Amino acid sequence: MPDRNSEMAIPGGTAKLAGREVARIGFGAMQLPGPGVWGPPKDRDTALAVLRRAVELGVNHIDTAHFYGDGVANELIRTALHPYPENLALVSKVGAIRDSNGAFMPAQRPEQLRAGVEANLASLGVERIDVVNLRLVDEMPSGTPLPDSEKADLDSQLAEMTALRDEGKIGGIGVSNVTMEQLRAALPADLACVQNAYSLLDRSGEPLLDLCRNHGVAWVPYFPLGSAFPGMPKVSEHPAVVKAAAELGATPAQVGLAWLLAHDSGTLLIPGTSSLSHLEDNIATVGVRLDPATMEVLDGLHMAE
Ligand SMILES: NC(=O)c1ccc[n+]([C@@H]2O[C@H](COP(=O)([O-])OP(=O)(O)OC[C@H]3O[C@@H](n4cnc5c(N)ncnc54)[C@H](OP(=O)(O)O)[C@@H]3O)[C@@H](O)[C@H]2O)c1
Repeated sequence: MPDRNSEMAIPGGTAKLAGREVARIGFGAMQLPGPGVWGPPKDRDTALAVLRRAVELGVNHIDTAHFYGDGVANELIRTALHPYPENLALVSKVGAIRDSNGAFMPAQRPEQLRAGVEANLASLGVERIDVVNLRLVDEMPSGTPLPDSEKADLDSQLAEMTALRDEGKIGGIGVSNVTMEQLRAALPADLACVQNAYSLLDRSGEPLLDLCRNHGVAWVPYFPLGSAFPGMPKVSEHPAVVKAAAELGATPAQVGLAWLLAHDSGTLLIPGTSSLSHLEDNIATVGVRLDPATMEVLDGLHMAE
């Protein structure tokens, strides 16, 4: 397995994202808007403080989307951090919009991808977004397949993303929620990153991670802690993770994140939180070292569960 060595100047090291080196622990903004990623935050001052503290602690990779609260996450980022630090990589995504009730609706057609990029540029207050992920959607919120009117073939979507990159509106193209087949088809677009669900407890994306590693594409797992959504196993609650954390003097979340860092050196983390103490906890993962025996136990978890 080829190594993806990262530089160690920043604690925890860096890895490549669209031609730049970013700290391996970044920040995901999806937990900042209100419940259901909709409407204003429950505590606006804390949401702004979380963003400012993240950057103060060395985070230079923030993941967001205009559809997080229909502009709410981007407005918070802009209010907290604009004018943005030179080294801050802002990463967003297109492919969905919200309806008036907050439901995530597909917006997959090329003209909708372009409108999504324009919405992000406006709400973030920038002329160029460092990376934009094309988030693929194949069903309606009800679980029914996309109607023909909402479908777009991958080639035409990638052609639009490439045009947006050529025009300088986006710096790099990512893909999200992709299958192996879609990832293979997208690789010729010179991808900056792939965002799929993946964690210590969900290794279903392992073949895609292997492909990213082999092509030097950053792997940016979402739901690295098991998400905020009910019904999904939480990494920090797994008994083996809790036990390892107690033995190492770390927190369970740190163990889950440290495993991701140790598993692949090109992985970039974007854990999401609305809490200052959780943010600090997550960033302090850079100081957590998993010994070989602990790694072996954690590596085996997906086989046991
Ligand atoms: N490309 C895509 O389609 C896609 C999809 C989903 C998400 N994303 C991105 O990925 C990021 C990460 O995913 P996510 O936020 O959904 O899920 P996540 O990072 O797996 O987990 C977030 C949950 O973990 C809790 N948490 C965070 N730090 C913790 C800690 N140190 N100890 C205990 N609990 C902690 C948070 O609660 P508190 O707020 O209380 O800390 C929240 O409930 C998102 O923020 C978003 O930017 C991308």
